Amino acid sequence: MTAPDAADLDRRFGRPGAVAFAVSTLGGVVATLTAADGAVATVALTGGHVLSYATPAAGEVLWLSPLARLDTGRAVRGGIPVCWPWFGAHPSEPARPAHGVARTAPWQVVATAPGPAPRLVLALDQQAARASGTDLSAQLEVTLAGALEVSLVTRNEGAAPARLTAALHSYFGVSDIGAVTVGGLEGRPFIDQLDAGRSKRSAEPIRFAGEVDRIYQESPDTVTIDDPGLGRRIEVAKRGSASTVVWNPWVDKAARLGDLGPDGFRRMVCVETANAGGDVVTLAPGATHTLTASIRAVT
Ligand code: BG6
Repeated sequence: MTAPDAADLDRRFGRPGAVAFAVSTLGGVVATLTAADGAVATVALTGGHVLSYATPAAGEVLWLSPLARLDTGRAVRGGIPVCWPWFGAHPSEPARPAHGVARTAPWQVVATAPGPAPRLVLALDQQAARASGTDLSAQLEVTLAGALEVSLVTRNEGAAPARLTAALHSYFGVSDIGAVTVGGLEGRPFIDQLDAGRSKRSAEPIRFAGEVDRIYQESPDTVTIDDPGLGRRIEVAKRGSASTVVWNPWVDKAARLGDLGPDGFRRMVCVETANAGGDVVTLAPGATHTLTASIRAVT
């Protein structure tokens, strides 16, 4: 598969002042969306990966590792990786890559729309989709309209029902992980991935003083990240999802992962809009499922 030509994409799909294509310093082609309200998002064609979302009032909302590159074949740490068509380990073949095949695969530009609310539609490369061992196809729609709205649309192209788990694995930037609170999930059951998958509940909003890796089930439509240090609240609203993953690797896992940069774990928290844990989607032949995260920063 040949690398996309940024100038050619810009000629075909660029929208003056709203959507532009260029080669990023991270080593791959990115689309930059600019909304009339001054919000800007960048999306890499490798992985269909949202790398950045900034608004004039809140600044950069997402976290991206200073070590991130688009040309290594490895998943980018930060932004919004697309986990598809399975979340976490493959359900039956542990040798398959964690979080599926989409986050390192090429995506092609399908369409763009101009401002004031620019939009980019990407399709996962068909060969990569087939390499997942499923008959599923995927499109990603990114829109800037007062919020960053990301929709992952999965279609069953096969003749038999198909199983799907997925996530928009958003990494949010925080002033200090020890100072933020994740709210909205109080009292909801979660699978504690750090305690043999036991089901638990907590009555309190989440605060971080160590590694956290939880798959919340029956999660509400909006989860918030309150950050007094940055004077902002991030609202993560969603549709097509009954589960939310909350993750911070803390010191030891961050050291094992090796790609967060110095103290990176202190500057990020993942609140992932998901179909994970017991939230498995079964798609009939020809059916589609849309998983949407709508991210807004309130100052
Ligand atoms: C989270 C999982 O969604 O992703 C964690 O809950 C996992 O268990 C994390 O460690 C990062 O995964 P990866 O494959 O990007 O290192």
